[in-house]
Amino acid sequence: MAQKNPKSAVSISQVSKSYISGELETLVLSELNLDIPCGEFVVILGVSGSGKTTLLNLIGALDAPTSGRIHVDGEEITGQGRWALTDYRRRKLGFIFQFFNLLPTLTAVENVRLSLDLMDLEPEQRRTTSVESLRRVGLDKKLDKFPAQLSGGEQQRVAIARALCKSPFLVLADEPTGNLDADTGEKIVKTMKKLNRETGTTFIIATHDQDIAGVADRVLHIRKGRIV
Ligand SMILES: Nc1ncnc2c1ncn2[C@@H]1O[C@H](COP(=O)(O)OP(=O)(O)OP(=O)(O)O)[C@@H](O)[C@H]1O
Ligand SMILES: [Mg+2]
Repeated sequence: MAQKNPKSAVSISQVSKSYISGELETLVLSELNLDIPCGEFVVILGVSGSGKTTLLNLIGALDAPTSGRIHVDGEEITGQGRWALTDYRRRKLGFIFQFFNLLPTLTAVENVRLSLDLMDLEPEQRRTTSVESLRRVGLDKKLDKFPAQLSGGEQQRVAIARALCKSPFLVLADEPTGNLDADTGEKIVKTMKKLNRETGTTFIIATHDQDIAGVADRVLHIRKGRIV
């Protein structure tokens, strides 16, 4: 079992984010501070529109804060250029999006394998790892189906397999069980928790799902732009 490591996986300092559209500025996150130790399984709760996706996007460097600094695994990601951030996402992150983001022209196993393409693995090993990852989410019978041939819940499981297959340093998951029935959702939560225990991967999960909140090391509530 992986030891909890007191080192910070993610450290967020005085981060604010506002969106500007036309004359209107909406402040979503306000001078937020947060420290997540390596290996922690963290759940973020908050009402719709409270800024959960925004926060995950900032940690995943898909968007930049208006002010403040973010460090992941000891490296500052704020203020870095595009190439460095692409490299950061590739090396460190598994991302599970609220709306899966699968490539429609690739099959399930090809969608998963894509996330391993830039890693130093033999083609055969890439295939085996992808198949194993799909097996863990119960999709080994649907390897060669395209996203359009899969249900919403199955597509979500492909997205989860894709995020977990490279055993990343950090998994960012936005409503990972939002499209799943209770049983499948529970299995997925167990799979994520198992990976967390075995590999020490840090998880940050935005959700309304009480089952996930139940297994979390820590549940954070986001309200009025801050963690309360
Ligand atoms: N690109 C954008 N431009 C302008 N406003 C945005 C943008 N993205 C998000 N917002 C606004 O920021 C606020 C927070 O949105 P966010 O998506 O982070 O909420 P959320 O907590 O993930 O909600 P949900 O539970 O519905 O997914 C909302 O009021 C939203 O309208
Ligand atoms: Mg959201």
